[in-house]
Order: sequence, then structure tokens, then C-alpha cells
Amino acid sequence: MQNSSKVNLQGGKTIGFVPTMGALHRGHMSLVRACREENDVAVVSIFVNPTQFDPSEDLDKYPSDLDGDMTKLEEAGVDTLFMPEEASVYPEGFQTSIEVKGLSEKLCGAFRPGHFDGVATVVAKLLNMVYPTRAYFGAKDYQQSLIIRRLAVDLDMPVEIAVLPTVREEDCLAMSSRNAYLSADERRAAQAIYRALANAADRVKEGKRDAAEINAFMRETLQKEPLITEVQYAGVYDPNTLDDVADIKSEVLLAVAAKLGDTRLIDNMLVKGA
Ligand code: PAJ
Repeated sequence: MQNSSKVNLQGGKTIGFVPTMGALHRGHMSLVRACREENDVAVVSIFVNPTQFDPSEDLDKYPSDLDGDMTKLEEAGVDTLFMPEEASVYPEGFQTSIEVKGLSEKLCGAFRPGHFDGVATVVAKLLNMVYPTRAYFGAKDYQQSLIIRRLAVDLDMPVEIAVLPTVREEDCLAMSSRNAYLSADERRAAQAIYRALANAADRVKEGKRDAAEINAFMRETLQKEPLITEVQYAGVYDPNTLDDVADIKSEVLLAVAAKLGDTRLIDNMLVKGA
């Protein structure tokens, strides 16, 4: 008798799963590689989920490169590319939504109402459709990964959630499909996001404990860049609850969301105090 509540063996085979919205870059492919190495069967989905985009957001111009994606997945040895139709994911009469309370309202949630309900619902559905042993997510979308971990525990989903490190460009900008929207000048200005995080991390590692000071420093670093047109949030947060932190005593999350014109970028870093 198999005595395990978590590991889902399908006919004795482990299934790894990477949900994506396509336009695959090296960040996605690091998840795909781990998925391929750690499981008997590797499944990747491409589905641009309409319910996680605000009406004012970029759903229509969301980048797509299906030929390129298929080549990359083929080369990586992926067994199945799952591309569900919108009408099969959201059939007529669809009425169910999953809301991970609290976590979904903080940080990005405050600026993208409903976004994380869309993410939580589609990820729960995809996990039920693919029924993987392990599913892989990127730390680049830290809040998303926290919400997905929570929903998998709360709904007793028999899946292991793996969260892998952020993959960066040569100048350390976090890889994102949205980087393609930046002009050359905006692309240079976007370096300030990593700079704010890395310099703040150094201060925390040196033993600075006053979060207000770090928050001000991060905001200043970003606001010095004229092409950064809005800083939505920048600062020190509790890595489990995403609440503000006042005194840095243990591990903290440094996180930023900033806009360069119409393009919204996010990044984060986990750091331990001295
Ligand atoms: P998408 O933006 O396509 O990202 C798919 C996965 O790749 C996510 O887990 C994301 O965190 C990860 N990822 C993106 N950029 C990364 C980087 N630079 N380094 C490491 N991992 C990175 O996130 C989504 O799609 C959607 O919300 C989805 C979960 C598929 C639900 O629709």
C-alpha cells in the first residue's frame, strides 16, 4: 500500500507541470528544465488567461510566439504541450471563482483588482486538468507563488508546488514577456529596479533594521529615473503575509512594482538581516 498524501503517482509515473502564458523566455525554460529532470512525464501549458487581465490591461497585445515556443519545448524534451481553448476552460455558464483572501489584496493585488482571483481560479483548474505530481512556478512572481501554495494546501490538492529562482538578463533585469514593450531608453532605465533591490539588500545584510529607511531609499532610487513614471510599491515586506515590516529581524521580502510609461514591471528579492 502506498502511504503518501502528497505524491501523486499516475500508473507509477510522476508528472511535472509548468503552466505558462507562452512567449517563452529563459525564465520559463528554467522551470521547464527542472520539470523535465525531476519527473517521468513533463507537461507545459500555454493559455493566455483572460480573467487575470484587467479590461485596461494588455490582453490583446500580449506577446505570442507559438512556433518559437514549440521549438524550445521540443528541444527541452517536453512530452506534452497543453493548449486548452478558452471555451473549454470557461464553458458557457461558468460561475466559480477561487479567492485566496488577504494575500490577494496586498502588493500587486491593490493595483490589479481581481487579478489574483483570475490566477488562482485558472491555476486550480489547470492543476485539476493535468493532475501533476509537481507544478513549477517562478519566484519572479513571488506573490503569485505564495497564493498558489496557499490554495494547494487549503484545497487539499495532491501536488507539490516548486518555486524556482528568478532568471535575469545580463544587466540583472528580471526576464519578463513585458520587457519587449520597453523602448531602448526605458530598457536602460529599468535597471534601477534591480539596483534598488540589490542596494537595499546590501543594507539589510549590513544590519540595518529600520524598514522605513530602506523603503525611502528604494523609492528614491526608483524616482531618480525620469522614465520610471510611477512607483506602485517599493519596500520591505513579511515574506509569508506580505504585510509591511517595521523592524527587520529575520528574513524579509524586498519587492517593487513600477511603471515605465504603459509597461508595468515587478521584481523582488528575499534577504536575511545580519
Ligand atoms: P507567465 O507570466 O507566462 O509565467 C509562467 C511562469 O514562469 C510563472 O510561474 C512565472 O513566475 C515564471 N517566470 C516568469 N518570468 C520568470 C523569470 N524571469 N524567472 C523565473 N521564472 C519566471 O505567471 C503566469 O504566466 C500566469 O499567471 C499563470 C501562472 C500561467 C496563470 O495563468
